[in-house]
Amino acid sequence: MQLIDGKKISLELQEEIALEVRKLKEQGKKTPHLAAILVGSDGGSETYVASKIKACEKVGFKSTLLRFPQYTTEEKLLHAVHELNNDPDVDGFIVQLPLPRQINEHKIIESILPSKDVDGFHPINVGRMVLNLPCYVSATPWGIVHLLHQYKVETSGKHCVVIGRSHIVGSPMSILMAKNTHLGNCTVTLCHSKTKDLKSHTLSADILICALGSPEFVTADMVKEGAVVIDVGTTRVESTETKSGYKLKGDIKFDEVAPKCSLITPVPGGVGPMTIASLLRNTLMAAKKEVYPA
Ligand code: GUN
Repeated sequence: MQLIDGKKISLELQEEIALEVRKLKEQGKKTPHLAAILVGSDGGSETYVASKIKACEKVGFKSTLLRFPQYTTEEKLLHAVHELNNDPDVDGFIVQLPLPRQINEHKIIESILPSKDVDGFHPINVGRMVLNLPCYVSATPWGIVHLLHQYKVETSGKHCVVIGRSHIVGSPMSILMAKNTHLGNCTVTLCHSKTKDLKSHTLSADILICALGSPEFVTADMVKEGAVVIDVGTTRVESTETKSGYKLKGDIKFDEVAPKCSLITPVPGGVGPMTIASLLRNTLMAAKKEVYPA
């Protein structure tokens, strides 16, 4: 069994991005600028956004954080999105999800200019991804594809089972793995809460990607010997072992599943850091107008 070191691969990507940023600055070009909208003060969202902002600083990006109270209105958020859409200094921005109930998430996402949607959540970017057109690919799925590539995982003809059909991870992941590209060509099974006899599917997975957000859901009896296992879960559970009073738990029962795998991602330090590196990569592409030329 070998661990997939997402932290290391993420740092390598960030170094490449930092180098590109230095080159842009030397050429007198503008500093890439990522903005983030954060509504409320959910602990998980606070942590993720703080990591994104910190990563921006590390690679030399400019960053802006716009905070809104939990009980803000949809109108106020739409106005903020409109301002960012029209701010020529902002290359890309994200609205951290989930949003509070009174706000229609789809309406907010659809109001983001596709050319600034570095999360790749806008229907235009999702559609372009499906059609193999230049687009921003959602950060976590792209990060996973990159990890598999870095660890030279053969995907062609393999059976990839994805658990979870979220718009952010499971759905785009299943599409990327099935694509007719050198990083895809898998036969994909997308499992979800209504799947019958889940184990019968997971047991035949050469590559198992778990993104359901249920701590330690996947046990050793569900995994084939030699499988490549990717754990997207990051549920915060209370813990007396850490200073913060919580720790992150993945969807995989790591201790019993890991010995059966050829490769496995840990939590933390697996997929999480890749999500941030992918977002930075999308923002750099936005700054360089690589996806939507001006
Ligand atoms: N919430 C959980 N993951 C993400 C993400 O990748 N982007 C945004 N905007 N919100 C999230």
